[in-house]
Amino acid sequence: MKITKLIKPLQGELSVPGDKSISHRAIMLGALCEGITEVSHFLESADCLSTISCFEKMGIQIEKQRDSVIVHGKGLRGLQAPKTALDCGNSGTTMRLISGILSGQGFSCELTGDASIQKRPMKRIISPLISMGANIRSLKTNDCAPLQINGQQLRGIHYASPIASAQVKSCVLLAGLYADTKTSVTEPYLSRNHTELMLSYFGADVESRGTTASIVPNPVLNGQKITVPGDISSAAYFIAAGLMIPGSEILLRDVGINPTRDGILQICKGMGGDITLLNLHKQGFETVADLLVKASSLHGTIVEGEIIPTLIDEIPIIAVLASFARGTTVIRDAEELKVKESNRLDVMVQELSAMGVDIEGTEDGMIIRGGKPLHGAVIDSRLDHRIAMSFAIAGLAAEGETTIEHSDCVDISYPGFFKDLNALQH
Ligand code: S3P
Repeated sequence: MKITKLIKPLQGELSVPGDKSISHRAIMLGALCEGITEVSHFLESADCLSTISCFEKMGIQIEKQRDSVIVHGKGLRGLQAPKTALDCGNSGTTMRLISGILSGQGFSCELTGDASIQKRPMKRIISPLISMGANIRSLKTNDCAPLQINGQQLRGIHYASPIASAQVKSCVLLAGLYADTKTSVTEPYLSRNHTELMLSYFGADVESRGTTASIVPNPVLNGQKITVPGDISSAAYFIAAGLMIPGSEILLRDVGINPTRDGILQICKGMGGDITLLNLHKQGFETVADLLVKASSLHGTIVEGEIIPTLIDEIPIIAVLASFARGTTVIRDAEELKVKESNRLDVMVQELSAMGVDIEGTEDGMIIRGGKPLHGAVIDSRLDHRIAMSFAIAGLAAEGETTIEHSDCVDISYPGFFKDLNALQH
């Protein structure tokens, strides 16, 4: 994909696609409940389709309709042994959350995925699951996928997670559905809480206190209607573009603004960004709002500590914003970025440098001295959707032409990304 510098402002309205994290969880919990779950504004991206295909292989009927997905739940113990390995594709959420569910089943199966996911760390879920009595192992004994899971009766534990990770927390809580006693997880900082909110909406007894979430085993989960909010992680690219490109004004409709996900809004406002929340309302168990974004003069900031999990997927686009902002931005406590779909710390430092940014990588983040003009470059996306989208936005504001290699990887989380970006250019 080739991007050239925009000479006109971005203008108009957009409804970004459904939230990826919530879409995955709606299929998973829909499969484990009694009766039908109807999911509207489901994100039909490659990652969420991987989740659907895994549950179909376990005997769950999932119908795609024009505006929704219907999941025919079979109850907590209704999954069937898949005939072949479950393929999670590129999706860490699918692999880590399903592992929790599979550990408590009455059958064995193998979980695999693409080259990227076979390099991502799975010890973070293997360890707590083993303490719950699970029989799970890395088939290549490298603590990565493929994983073999032989379902067992599990025991409840309290897990003090060393990392603030919603995937780890959710994996343990989902395994906790099949335990003999209560299971709880404490994390260093609160990560996204969609699993807790949705489990409770489906009828589970879940308690959240500070950074600890706990679940009582063996609930009866009942099918629900869910409307998935717009994904703030997808909205982030348009928020950044709207703030950076002079004269722009964009309205992003029905974006999920759960406080465990809204760090991008706090950081942008802290950098001087003009973002107004309109029409704030509850949509089921989540809160949504329309975001009015106006071009702003931005300055550098510090991104660190407990805000990190609330914007973990937005750090690449924050680095782009910081490159255009006046002054220095420091990002710390973000070592988790090294184990995402690519090593996002290294990739951002390398590729922003290629565009002329004064940027330095650190142990756990980066230092960006922004405000100098950027020039176009050929960007290797590393097949990482968030890298491709971040550099597409950088390319709109850089001099000359930017080429994003393997840009179709945006389909992992946002199949219509380039179409939506074009629609705002009048
Ligand atoms: C996700 C949690 C985050 C995030 C990922 C989706 C989820 O990962 O980066 O894109 O849906 O639970 P970690 O939990 O590993 O931080």
